[in-house]
Amino acid sequence: MQSPSPLLTLGVNIDHVATIRQARRTVEPDPVTAAALAELGGADGITVHLREDRRHIQDRDVKILRQTVQTHLNLEMAPTEEMVAIALEIQPDYVTLVPEKREEVTTEGGIDIVGNFARFKEVVDQLQGANIPVSWFIDAEPDQIEASYKTGAKFIELHTGKYAEAKGEDELQYELDYLKQGAKQAIALGLRVNAGHGLTYRNVYPLACIEGMEELNIGHTIISRAVLVGLERAVREMKLAMRGQL
Ligand code: PXP
Repeated sequence: MQSPSPLLTLGVNIDHVATIRQARRTVEPDPVTAAALAELGGADGITVHLREDRRHIQDRDVKILRQTVQTHLNLEMAPTEEMVAIALEIQPDYVTLVPEKREEVTTEGGIDIVGNFARFKEVVDQLQGANIPVSWFIDAEPDQIEASYKTGAKFIELHTGKYAEAKGEDELQYELDYLKQGAKQAIALGLRVNAGHGLTYRNVYPLACIEGMEELNIGHTIISRAVLVGLERAVREMKLAMRGQL
């Protein structure tokens, strides 16, 4: 297996810090403090998903994080008019566009660019026209990768959910090869490649070794470990796991 690139970065998704806060509609724990601690632990970026239903991250969080994050701020959002207006105001370092369904517990699959091409290209034009690079969260399907490229977006984020849920060696290898192939196709087109969803301390290393992978966006497993050992340590340990050193 090839080694991970020394330039591979970790974007820490802190949504679930806000999930705990919203469980009581109170002021703690504050995702802004969490972002600072994640950065002290070695996070290379901070990711938040501002959902239409505001179930965890709030508008206030994104506004303050824009001012306090010292690394880079990746705003995950649906490609809607409301969210585009917020992104244009806040100016995150990049935006990851994701599908959103109110009834889902978490993002369930990649976005369908092929079926929404004209509207989605307009969203890319609006955001990138304001110097906000766009990343499409997609399954590693050749036609979705091609369509992402045709929208003019700078990045894709490969959905790793199926890899994370794969049962047994053969299925795992199949999903890994599928993601590798997707990364290869995207890079050949000139797209930059991130990945995320469902990654854990145990399954992250083979993913980290995919050639050309730039950033892994990881949330649930880090926040889960942080509840037990603290956020700085949980982030530090994920950086080690990404390098096969945990
Ligand atoms: N990337 C995207 C686009 C996501 O929607 C999510 C979940 O919010 C993640 C990465 C992180 O997934 P997880 O919390 O399973 O690590």
